[in-house]
Amino acid sequence: MKRTKIKDILRSTETDVPVLVKGWVKTFRSNQFIALNDGSCNANLQIVVDFNNTPEETLKRITTGASLSIQGQLIKSLGKGQSVEIKAEKVEVLGDSDAEKFPLQPKKHSLEFLREIAHLRFRTNTFGAIFRVRNSLAFAVHQFFQEKGFVYIHTPIITSSDAEGAGEMFRVTTLNLNQLPKNEEGQIDFQQDFFGKSTNLTVSGQLEGELAAMAFSDIYTFGPTFRAENSNTARHLAEFWMIEPEMAFYDLNDNMDLAEELLKYVIKYAWDKNYEDLEFLNTRLLEEEKLKPQQDRSELNLLDKLKFCLENSFERVTYTQAIEILKESNHNKKKKFQYLVNEWGVDLQSEHERYLVEKHFKKPVILTDYPKKIKAFYMRQNDDDKTVRAMDILFPGIGEIVGGSQREERLDKLVSRMNEMNIPTHELDWYLDTRRFGACEHAGFGLGFERLVLFVTGMTNIRDVIPFPRTPKNCEF
Ligand code: 4AD
Ligand code: MG
Repeated sequence: MKRTKIKDILRSTETDVPVLVKGWVKTFRSNQFIALNDGSCNANLQIVVDFNNTPEETLKRITTGASLSIQGQLIKSLGKGQSVEIKAEKVEVLGDSDAEKFPLQPKKHSLEFLREIAHLRFRTNTFGAIFRVRNSLAFAVHQFFQEKGFVYIHTPIITSSDAEGAGEMFRVTTLNLNQLPKNEEGQIDFQQDFFGKSTNLTVSGQLEGELAAMAFSDIYTFGPTFRAENSNTARHLAEFWMIEPEMAFYDLNDNMDLAEELLKYVIKYAWDKNYEDLEFLNTRLLEEEKLKPQQDRSELNLLDKLKFCLENSFERVTYTQAIEILKESNHNKKKKFQYLVNEWGVDLQSEHERYLVEKHFKKPVILTDYPKKIKAFYMRQNDDDKTVRAMDILFPGIGEIVGGSQREERLDKLVSRMNEMNIPTHELDWYLDTRRFGACEHAGFGLGFERLVLFVTGMTNIRDVIPFPRTPKNCEF
C-alpha cells in the first residue's frame, strides 16, 4: 500500500478506506490515542490503537518522538477536535525514541532552549509552521519574478570585490594561517592564495546583477549573503538570504512600485497557502503578548497586520521629511530615543525607523532620497548634490526590510563619487564597463529574506526563522 501524507488525509472526504501513514509521535494518551505528525501540516492525525490486540511491547515503544508506520481504516471521528481518525490495524515502530532522553517533551519549551536544539526544533508546532511558511515565501518569490519574465541569475558566493565598499566581509583563504607568506613589503602575499588574490564571501550580488540586467533587462538573484558585522541583534545574521532584482530602464518610482508589489504578492501567497500555519502563529503570538505589559503589546494581531499590509499602500516620504517628523516628535522632545535626532544627515537607527512606521504613519513606509554620505557609491546622485535616489522600505516590528536605489548610470559622476569615497576604480573596471557600453537608467533593491519571514510569521528573533542561524560567536550544526 502507498503511504498517504497526513495533510491529504485530513482533507479527504472519503472515509472507511484503508490507509497507510507514517510520521512521528507527538503524544500518546491512555494507551490508546496517538497524535501523529509527518510535517505536511500543522495538525496531527489521531490514531486509535486497539490496545487489547496490540502487544504490550509495541505499546511501550510508542513514545513522543518515535517514528511509526500505521495501517488502518480511515473513519469519521467519534471524538471532538478532529473530523477523521485512523483505526489502527497494524502499528509498526520504525525508530524508537527514548522518552527519558528525548529533549522535546509534550509541553511548551522556550525559544531560547529550542535554539540550542535547533537540530530537533523542526519537529515542534511552532517551527513546523515557520519553515512551511518560509518555504512558501521562497517559492512565491520565484513565481512572482518568473511570471514577470525576470531571469534568475546565480551571482558568485566567493568574490574578490566588496560590493558595498564596506569592511565587513568574511575572508576566504587556503593559506596556512600559522605560516602566512609575506611579500616584499611585508604584507600577506595573496598571490600565493588559492585564487591568486584576496577573496571574500559575497555581501551582495548586486554589482554582478547589474551586469546581467544590462543584457536581460530584468533579473533577480536569490541566494545566501554574508556579513561579518558584529551586530548581535534580533534582526541581524552573519549568513542571510537576499533577493536582489535589478531592472534596466527603471527609475526609483518603478523600483518602489515593484518592491511593494513583490511584498504584497508573497505575503498573499503565504496567506492563501499556509493559512492554518499563520493562524497557529497568530495564536502563539497572542499568548506571548499576554505576558507583556499593555503598552508593549501590538495594536494588531498577526493576521490583521498581514491583512493591513496587503490592503494599504505604503507611505512614501523623503529622508528629509522623515527627519523633520522625528525632530518634532514628542518622543524626541521627551528624550525617549536613545539616539536623539537633531540634525539632517544622521543615519536613522532602528528605533527611529520603528517610530515612523509603528507610531507615526502606522503602516509600511518607503523612505527615499537619503544623504549621499550614508549610502553606497553606486546610488544615483540628485541635483542638490546632497542626496541620492535611495529607497528603504520600513516594516512594523522589523524596521528596514528592503534597501535599494536607482543606480548612477553616468560614468563621470560614478567615477568621481568612487574617488571621493576611496573606492579603487581599477578593481571595479568591469562594473564601470556597463556605464561605458550602452549605459541606461536602471534600478534595483535587496529584500532580506529572513526579515520577510520574521514579519510574516510574527516571530521576534531572526534566529528563529532560519534553520541554523549564524551569529557572532555562534555557528553550531
Ligand atoms: O540594505 P542592504 O545592505 O542593501 C544591499 O545589500 C544592496 N546591495 C541591495 C540592492 O540594492 N541590490 O541589504 C538589503 C537588505 C536589508 O534591507 C535587510 O532586509 C537585509 O538585506 N539585511 C540583513 N538581513 C539579516 N541580517 C543582516 N545582517 C542583514 N543585513 C541586511
Ligand atoms: Mg540598507
